[in-house]
Amino acid sequence: MKLGRLYGGIVAVAIASILWALLNRYVWDPGAAGFLSHKLGLKHTLEVPVWLTVLDVHIAFASIALLAGIINISSWILRHYRNAHRIVGYAYLISVVGVVLTSGYMAPYATGGRTISMMFNLWNLAWLAVTLTAYVYVKRKKFDMHRNWMIRNYAFCFTNLSIHLLLTLLSGVLGLEYVVAYTGSVIGTVILLPLSAEAVIRTIRKTGMGSTNHACGHSNDAVP
Ligand code: HEM
Repeated sequence: MKLGRLYGGIVAVAIASILWALLNRYVWDPGAAGFLSHKLGLKHTLEVPVWLTVLDVHIAFASIALLAGIINISSWILRHYRNAHRIVGYAYLISVVGVVLTSGYMAPYATGGRTISMMFNLWNLAWLAVTLTAYVYVKRKKFDMHRNWMIRNYAFCFTNLSIHLLLTLLSGVLGLEYVVAYTGSVIGTVILLPLSAEAVIRTIRKTGMGSTNHACGHSNDAVP
């Protein structure tokens, strides 16, 4: 596969993810009544206005992370605007922390109960670990490793889109009960996203752009 096409695909999916989250939050289900209606038998009382405010912050940071990822996986931007890559990288880092903190608040109320709450928390911890790994590699100037770990990192940004695509398949198409379908979608997501990241890394490696720590001091990044 040509890298330009791969990049175009990632950009399209990232924009679709942002648009979906914004439309669903502010147009299709503004009070999240549909989503919240499936939360039966919660152990903690859900304060809807607080939950919605946290969700707004969650979506804002998530959107910044998705946009920052689009910018920073472009090797063209890296080559021409090295400083911008660095600044956007720090914006991405802050956004990851923002998404992790807000999802930490929402996780105990997750649809699907304790198992899914714990999965979200573990997913959060994994994201922090992957972020730290990518950061350590860039500080050690291991740019190929930094790129690979940032691709793995960026995969986490597609958590919500993946959950909802799987949910549509399991609940809408296969007719599973909503909570069962949601549980299956979260489990499917934590398996599929890391596999997708490995597939992207392999594709880049196959094109011969996978080991390119140039004399200029930085590798070619993910895509043209
Ligand atoms: C970066 C892209 C992401 C976007 C655009 C996003 C967006 C959303 C949206 C719109 C919701 C509201 C519920 C829904 O309609 O699905 C939500 C809920 C939630 N998100 Fe995210 N999210 C993202 C990443 C993450 C990540 C990486 C985690 C890590 C664990 C996470 C954890 C949660 C949790 C725990 C909830 C509440 C789920 C529930 O109540 O069942 N999100 N997210």
